[in-house]
Amino acid sequence: MELFDVYPLYDVTPVSAKGIVITDDEGKKYMDLYGGHAVISIGHSHPHYLERIKNQLDRIGFYSNSVKNPLQTQLASKLGQLSNCEDYNLFLCNSGAEANENALKLASFHTNKSRVIAFTNSFHGRTSAAVAATDNEKINAPINKQQKVTFLSFEDFEGFETEIKKDDVCAVILEAIQGVGGLDEPSGIFYRQIAALCKKYGVVLIADEVQSGFGRSGSFFAFQHHGIEPDIITIAKGMGNGFPVGGVLIHKNIKASYGLLGTTFGGNHLACAAVLAVLEVLEEENLIENAHRMGIYFKEKALKIPQVKEIKGRGLMLGLKFEFEVAELRKRLIYNQHIFTGGAKDKYVLRILPALTIKEKDLDHFFSGLKNELL
Ligand SMILES: Cc1ncc(COP(=O)(O)O)c(C=O)c1O
Repeated sequence: MELFDVYPLYDVTPVSAKGIVITDDEGKKYMDLYGGHAVISIGHSHPHYLERIKNQLDRIGFYSNSVKNPLQTQLASKLGQLSNCEDYNLFLCNSGAEANENALKLASFHTNKSRVIAFTNSFHGRTSAAVAATDNEKINAPINKQQKVTFLSFEDFEGFETEIKKDDVCAVILEAIQGVGGLDEPSGIFYRQIAALCKKYGVVLIADEVQSGFGRSGSFFAFQHHGIEPDIITIAKGMGNGFPVGGVLIHKNIKASYGLLGTTFGGNHLACAAVLAVLEVLEEENLIENAHRMGIYFKEKALKIPQVKEIKGRGLMLGLKFEFEVAELRKRLIYNQHIFTGGAKDKYVLRILPALTIKEKDLDHFFSGLKNELL
């Protein structure tokens, strides 16, 4: 059997990784400023993370959600405390798309309506309702197009009010900072207007924090920069530092009932151990504060590069916009400078999504590699 060929691959085979350094099968070392697409939050192979997962595996790795699992309650409590989201309950699942799928489903159950408002350039995952709310025709199959989704632009105050008034909307879903789209974010005023109108018309506001959450933007959640309170928050990526896990934070106003949501693997013992380790390291090493500081440092350095036309994002969810498409630059950064970076739907944006442990000297190294390739 061969692999179903859906990924264009770089010619690199990582065999080990530590912190922000990846080593390939020829012993070459690369600096990881991509974090496997914003997944690596506390650094590769963090000792506390390894210890917690290994210890857990020695005890019990998995049992189903039909029995008590105190690790889930510990996780919910620690997450509530660190994120300052004590007014929410937690449902655990396995990925970002699944988190959004559950969020949209809950919104529909809660309101008994089915149309969704999403935003231009959004990315919410590749499953049924999540992909329908993703602004990319190419990954929406006819089966997904059956969903009712209206796409609006950020800052379209009038269009938003016209649509939300129509009485058939169950949810508004947005990324506080767009990831795949290319690091755009709505203004605080637009965000607060959305939140106010969702409340007024009884529509569920979903903040997709799959990429921007867990400290990446310099606060625990990116929506927290704008002082609003979504009804549902979805998480994944940095949550498990590479362990496949996702979650849905559901405001206590939305009530649970047996059987409403469910999953076989979600919230298993190993996944909980991984997430608890991530939360403990985020707290112990002040990594959210570090993300904030390193974001400022990065922007100061980027300002000095004449070819950079725009610096986008917050914390360690960053983008550099150039006047040319960045695909070739990314290749040269990997093969010549041994630095991994990310791309975006906006082909002119180079994305920087390192572990939140990154230091000034690492960013200095990136900028000198970038300068070499821009000569
Ligand atoms: C904002 C956002 N939501 C959802 C997803 C989907 O997550 P997953 O690939 O874990 O299904 C992604 C993935 O890139 C994302 O960036």
